[in-house]
Amino acid sequence: MLNIHKYNIIFYIIQNEREIPMTQTKSFLKEIDFTKQELEELIDLSIKFKQLKKNRIPHKYLDSLNIALIFEKTSTRTRSAFTVAGQDLGMNVTYLGAGDIQLGKKESVVDTAKVLGSMFDGIEYRGFKQEDVEDLAKYSGVPVWNGLTDTWHPTQMIADFMTLKEHFGSLEDLTIAYIGDGRNNIANSLLVTSAILGVNVKIISPEILQPEADIVELAQKHNNGANLTITDDISEVKGVDILYTDVWVSMGEEVDFKSRIDLLLPYQINIGLLAKVENPDVIVMHCLPAFHDLNTQIGQEIYEKYCLAELEITDEVFHKYSEIIFQEAENRMHSIKAIMYNSLKNI
Ligand code: CP
Ligand code: NVA
Repeated sequence: MLNIHKYNIIFYIIQNEREIPMTQTKSFLKEIDFTKQELEELIDLSIKFKQLKKNRIPHKYLDSLNIALIFEKTSTRTRSAFTVAGQDLGMNVTYLGAGDIQLGKKESVVDTAKVLGSMFDGIEYRGFKQEDVEDLAKYSGVPVWNGLTDTWHPTQMIADFMTLKEHFGSLEDLTIAYIGDGRNNIANSLLVTSAILGVNVKIISPEILQPEADIVELAQKHNNGANLTITDDISEVKGVDILYTDVWVSMGEEVDFKSRIDLLLPYQINIGLLAKVENPDVIVMHCLPAFHDLNTQIGQEIYEKYCLAELEITDEVFHKYSEIIFQEAENRMHSIKAIMYNSLKNI
């Protein structure tokens, strides 16, 4: 009985997958390279891969392919997600960390791309400049997946909107308020992805931390009917369905932490801010890692210097919404699996 049930699930998933006219093989560098339909297909495929994993149904659809993971910045979720997703799909996964390879110090992105492209079937890249991940794709000749740059974090978006679809059943009529540093990679990606998907989004940040004009223009250009709001007015959280925040200082940024704290403390997600939403069904999301307690080295240092134990989100709010926040983290793996499968399935 159990086996018949299992086979029915396999049949259902493969059958449905065939019905989806998926994008041709390509890289995943930034959200604007994809249509609304293509992003929705990736979200749905992520949910199907999650079903396979939960039912312990093997899915080594990309058996024996080889992928490289380049990380010029640190990572827990993205690195783990690419590793496990690649292995679940049957691929051999090689981690190339900062300091392990010649890239940057002795060899250019272009030469590295040509070498890795001759050996690997796909490459993940986490680094600084968006231009570098684009060059890697251009010169390697194999699919490249952006694991985060200073400008975009597109794989995070598929996990986030997958999580919203799981939670709300649909993305229709939702409004997201992103609160905090409004010109970092997460804010940029949320603004543009929400626009493409037709999900209303508000970036609520002090004026000097609001998105750059070119990012806002891209969101407007690719907008499919969403209301896009950029404001410094925190009372704009009233009535939203989702509060989303991220760290106040991103990897690679060289800023005075104190000046960031002074700017962003009024934008901390705390119980007072939640009350301003006036929506009992609101959820809180965070891409993680988060500074919500003193159990980190940086958290301790900030506390010793500025007497502040919590930054972008209080411990109380973090724990109140930890189920959805960690669901979002788990979904990184299922969604990255869908993204890689979509790029490599015709190889
Ligand atoms: N959210 C995210 O990208 O986490 P990592 O930096 O741990 O990969
Ligand atoms: N804005 C953060 C995102 C981490 C996932 C950073 O770039 O450090």
